[in-house]
Parts: sequence; C-alpha cells; structure tokens
Amino acid sequence: MGAFRLIIALFPLGNSLFAQGVNGGDVFAEYCAPCHGADGKARTPAGKKLGAKDLSESKLPDAEIEKQILAGKKDERGSDRMPAFQGRLKESEVAALVVFVKTFRR
Ligand code: HEC
Repeated sequence: MGAFRLIIALFPLGNSLFAQGVNGGDVFAEYCAPCHGADGKARTPAGKKLGAKDLSESKLPDAEIEKQILAGKKDERGSDRMPAFQGRLKESEVAALVVFVKTFRR
C-alpha cells in the first residue's frame, strides 16, 4: 500500500515531466488522424463525411489553428463537424499540434 501511495503522489510530477517532450505526431495520430488522416489529407471515411479540411492545403496562421483545435467547428445546425479539444488536450499538446499540423504543408 505504501508503494501504491508513492506512485499516486509522484504521478502529477511524472505527468508534467512527460509533457515537456510531447510528440505532436503521436497526439495527431490519436486525436486527429481518424478524420484528417495520417497524411493530413482527410481522405478517411469520417473525414469525407464531415468535410474535414486537407491540412496540406491549409493556410491558417498559428493562432487560428490553435483556435480551431480548442473550439472545434460546428455546422449551421449546431452539430459538431470538428469536436472542440479544449479540456481534452494539455496546453503542451495543443502547442505541439500547431507545429505538427504545418508539417503537412508543402
Ligand atoms: C471528427 C472529425 C475531426 C477530428 C477528430 C478533427 N478534425 Fe480538424 N477538422 C474537421 C473538419 C470537418 C474540419 C473543417 C471545418 C470547417 O468547415 O471549417 C476541420 C478543420 C481543421 C482545421 C482547419 C483547416 C483550415 O485550413 O481551415 C485544422 C487546423 C484542424 N482541423 C486540425 C485538427 C487537429 C489538430 C485535430 C486533432 C486535435 C483535429 N483537427 C481533429 C474534422 C475533424
């Protein structure tokens, strides 16, 4: 039981240390690729259905990318097209994504 308590106590620390080395590609693969595809071109069934943007064609500036990730996007009837990730991703993960999303551009 003592060791268990210690692990719990150390967890927040370990978590924040880990966040320093966030890999934007890993976060993208987990949360974004289902719609935007591993290559960012949104040629996935969900991406086509929802009309996800081809990120290699995107010209959004950093601040707009961040906004899109945090706030998501709703259609005119108010249902989600892209879900909001505010509260689901850490600040460091969002920052890593902003950098990673731009690597699709060429
Ligand atoms: C459920 C599907 C879905 C998921 C998951 C998703 N997106 Fe999207 N994304 C969309 C759709 C749909 C749009 C187009 C919205 C619109 O009409 O502007 C979009 C648009 C964007 C845009 C704007 C591109 C532009 O030029 O307008 C960015 C940037 C983006 N997504 C990044 C992400 C990132 C990063 C993630 C992961 C955290 C993510 N998306 C997860 C569906 C999704």
